[in-house]
Amino acid sequence: MALIALAADKGSPGVTTAAVALAAVWPRRVLLAETDPAGGDLVYRSAAAHGGPLNPNTGMLSIAATARRGLVPDQLWDHVQPLSGGLEVLVGLGIAEQAAGLAGLWPTLGHAFASLADSPHAAADVIADCGRISGDTPALDLFPHASLVLLLSRTEPESLARVRDRAAALAGKLHGGPRGAASLANPVIGVVLIADTGTAGKLASQVNDMLVHAQTGARVLGTIADDPAGAEQLAGRRRGRLDKSLLIRSARKVAADIHQQYGAAWAASAQANQAQQGPSQAHHAQQAPGQAHHAQQAPSQAQHAQQGPNVPHQQTPHVPHQQAGHTQGHAGAGT
Ligand SMILES: Nc1ncnc2c1ncn2[C@@H]1O[C@H](COP(=O)(O)OP(=O)(O)O)[C@@H](O)[C@H]1O
Ligand SMILES: [Mg+2]
Repeated sequence: MALIALAADKGSPGVTTAAVALAAVWPRRVLLAETDPAGGDLVYRSAAAHGGPLNPNTGMLSIAATARRGLVPDQLWDHVQPLSGGLEVLVGLGIAEQAAGLAGLWPTLGHAFASLADSPHAAADVIADCGRISGDTPALDLFPHASLVLLLSRTEPESLARVRDRAAALAGKLHGGPRGAASLANPVIGVVLIADTGTAGKLASQVNDMLVHAQTGARVLGTIADDPAGAEQLAGRRRGRLDKSLLIRSARKVAADIHQQYGAAWAASAQANQAQQGPSQAHHAQQAPGQAHHAQQAPSQAQHAQQGPNVPHQQTPHVPHQQAGHTQGHAGAGT
């Protein structure tokens, strides 16, 4: 299992939306981390499982306050809140100024995120919403720990040119130089296009050719539907059958394709790491109350797949949610 970092070069193509959509349909237990140094959005878009608003102080902010003393991967669960619908999230910072509190901690965070997959008690992949990475955002320090860096891009020519150049620059930084054969280098750098479903397939193959031709070391790993209605629903601003939306259906395909390509390798490396660390992890389990609880909450994959997306419900902060059309997720949302 793995850390998957999502980011964009410039503008606001829909990184947060894609991160939530992918996490909602991820075929294994997953933790969605709002690591955008500019601040998170989920507090404004999603209700907590208890029906009220998410607590902005529990998440990246509370980690910033404690991680200086070290961060064992399982401790991440102490800062997690379940959304209405069941998705487990690390709520992002309030405003960019708070990122100062995380200065120097990004590599520690990256290591903890990546190692959560190896936890014998409550293993999960981590999907990290890193926001924009133009300039030298500190979230870049997460990338060397990631198995997969997904660059989100719209399909206007200037966006495609930028994502190509950003991919090449990242490959230079992370792989020590651009390469033709992306699969040889870690982390894998993938481009995900946010595109109209009618033209997505053709565009994806054209953009992939462009990435290969430019020796960026990246390739197109999928397309997320340009679906304004689905995006509004996911952000709690509109009602409807989210699980049937183009957005969620396209996210499901991207998640499935990624797992088909990399899932086995990630599972094998997690198993190897678990085998190595056995005894010390057991020790931590005894120390940390609540871990057994977390482990119990983890859905089996089959169950998770049947339940459909753990999509956040509409934000109605003071009213408990009872909404028709939504599938109930795990982790305490099943009332
Ligand atoms: N796949 C999508 N299709 C259509 N509109 C989208 C999509 N993703 C995001 N949007 C819209 O774009 C705006 C920015 O989305 P957001 O996910 O916050 O982007 P970012 O995290 O890149 O800033 C929002 O208004 C959102 O509704
Ligand atoms: Mg965002």
